[in-house]
Amino acid sequence: MKVTKAEIVISAVAEAQYPDDNLPEIVLLGRSNVGKSTFVNTLIERRGLARTSSQPGKTQTMNFYRINDQFHFVDMPGYGYAKASKTEREKWGKMIEKYLRNRNNATLIFQLIDSRHEPSEDDILMYEWLVHYGLNPLIIGTKADKISKINQKKSVNRIANILNLRSAQEVILFSSETKLGKEVVWEHIENVLK
Ligand code: GTP
Ligand code: MG
Repeated sequence: MKVTKAEIVISAVAEAQYPDDNLPEIVLLGRSNVGKSTFVNTLIERRGLARTSSQPGKTQTMNFYRINDQFHFVDMPGYGYAKASKTEREKWGKMIEKYLRNRNNATLIFQLIDSRHEPSEDDILMYEWLVHYGLNPLIIGTKADKISKINQKKSVNRIANILNLRSAQEVILFSSETKLGKEVVWEHIENVLK
């Protein structure tokens, strides 16, 4: 897809603020610092649209981006951010849970997992929770440029094993540096928008 228009609609903290234009929504979930906001910027080739940071905990609201007036990306706060207070983490958790359970517009969910590490407890819980509610996510292994080809292969196998995926081919390796995975991700998006 050629992105000709990309704009922030709203940074929402509550349901009442969600956009009401009824566009399909493509949701980014994952641990803090895994690369969700960077993923959005890489796909749409706009460096600074979604704010990113080398410090975890950058995105603290649900950010809706309208793309080509055709769909929204919903960039979520990361889970598992240790430095946030318990109250804050619970607040974000509830906000994300409410969105996922009530928002019928959510058409495709990407769950991002750092390809350098084993999926964390939080990653596993999130994945199982999504599957339980029938919201089967596509799994993205991020920061693939930071590991060797051999370790990339090991990484997808490890993620697939730990999450009990049917096949390691279900894991899409991604890199904002080399653009690995970008085309495959767009194919998935275009498929659900048909
Ligand atoms: P929160 O908003 O805190 O939940 O984090 P996030 O998941 O949105 O992460 P963000 O996109 O802000 O990226 C975190 C850091 O990882 C930034 O320094 C990015 O530049 C870096 N990063 C993200 N993706 C990649 C990648 O594919 N390769 C490399 N080398 N760095 C990446
Ligand atoms: Mg972010």
